[in-house]
Amino acid sequence: MFTRSVLAILTSALVLTACSDSEPPFAADAATDSMVMIEEPPPAELLLPDLWGPAVVLDDENPEPGIVEVTLTAQYQTITLGDGMTYEMMTYNGLVPGPAIHARVGDEVVVHFQNNLDQPTTIHWHGLRISDQMDGNPRIQNPVEAGESFEYRYVVPEAGTFWYHPHVREHIQIERGMYGMLIVRDELDPEYDLERAIALDDILIDPDSEYLPPHLMSHPEIMHGRNGNVLLMNGREIGYEAPGTATRGQVERWRMVNTANARTMELSIEGASFRVLALDGGKLVTPYETARLQMPVGRRFDVEVAYDTAGTVELTSHVLSRDATGDIVEIPLPVFTVEVADSTETVQRPEWPTISAPAARTVDREVELVFDVVNTEMGTMWQINGVSHREEPLFTFQEGETVRMRLRNLVGPEHPFHLHGQWFEVVNNGQRHTDAPGMLDTVLVPGLEEVEVIAYFDNPGTWMTHCHILEHAQLGMMAEIVVEPAE
Ligand code: C2O
Ligand code: CU
Repeated sequence: MFTRSVLAILTSALVLTACSDSEPPFAADAATDSMVMIEEPPPAELLLPDLWGPAVVLDDENPEPGIVEVTLTAQYQTITLGDGMTYEMMTYNGLVPGPAIHARVGDEVVVHFQNNLDQPTTIHWHGLRISDQMDGNPRIQNPVEAGESFEYRYVVPEAGTFWYHPHVREHIQIERGMYGMLIVRDELDPEYDLERAIALDDILIDPDSEYLPPHLMSHPEIMHGRNGNVLLMNGREIGYEAPGTATRGQVERWRMVNTANARTMELSIEGASFRVLALDGGKLVTPYETARLQMPVGRRFDVEVAYDTAGTVELTSHVLSRDATGDIVEIPLPVFTVEVADSTETVQRPEWPTISAPAARTVDREVELVFDVVNTEMGTMWQINGVSHREEPLFTFQEGETVRMRLRNLVGPEHPFHLHGQWFEVVNNGQRHTDAPGMLDTVLVPGLEEVEVIAYFDNPGTWMTHCHILEHAQLGMMAEIVVEPAE
């Protein structure tokens, strides 16, 4: 990873320079010229630390503090994903993953988006509770046609690890590389020795072809979504680049997202102690330790990794496969390793801030969402409550309503259920769930099971809700929920 770490550091250095250039004349003038009357000093800007991983962290083009202005261009680009794997991908700014966007809570993000593909697209800011006008829903915002542009503009409401991707033909556009990370920081975020941004993906390739296989042609893909045959980390085949480096005693924050079309990742970290700081957006009240991270598509995990011993630390993805006899076996695939050099330092974890748990709210309504699959003359279709690609709103709620949603999966394949623009908590018999604590926007509903969530419909608008297995969404597992603004 040598070259790319250097790139990341260089880019961050540029970001920092841009920040200090961008400060209002106050600092310099006050020191040298008492004629300049400043009533109130501008708020100290939260520094954005280096981010390891993304080839590029977008430079803020706007010197004003509080505004992050960037340019994203959707374009075809020939990309080398690994040895002998060079494909024409769909990209943001010619990169897979797209460049990371780094912002602070309260910043206004302005994205000048240009679509240089030959097909329409939009950008959805997965996990952000912003206005529905800016959410990339192609039924609200007209899709950005080939050759056209659009300006996304929103104020970032909360800190966390988010990501962005298209919401038009997303099973193709995301598979072919259109995804990027959006990292938002607030003053409560502790400082770590390093923050790593890790986008995990898989991709289906045909080793005998220079093209990616056509979509939705096979029964397994229709039933389970497209599972790839090559795991990617930050757009590169795993093992393709050199390991990361660290020193004993250091503590890092890894911000991970699963951008695959369908594959739930089962992750472990060996050789270091780690705990979960956040799932999806918000910081957890109580970080927790676990042996495995189950990461459905769309989900983010923020993990604190403490190097308490020297040696090799390994992030492993445990992939299910069939052995020669047809039995299902778990194969551990090393995704990423860090070589930890010895030192006399011992681990000092930064203090985790005091996070107040959201106040308990009484449930105003209960609804059911039933996931099923049917055969129609158009082929196999996926349904929510008996309808594929429902035109009318699935539900209409009032702003501020608290709704218990029972998610019922009537079939074998699992569904990572995703709700735009709101947060929910997973509950179990009315209790906050311990396996998936915190405020989520994505939850896995395993085959033939039920999951209950309590959703807080605090953000008015029209919101997509769908399965994040992109083939399921494409085949009908897509609906909208309307939240009417309070008077
Ligand atoms: Cu990543 Cu509609 O979502
Ligand atoms: Cu699904």
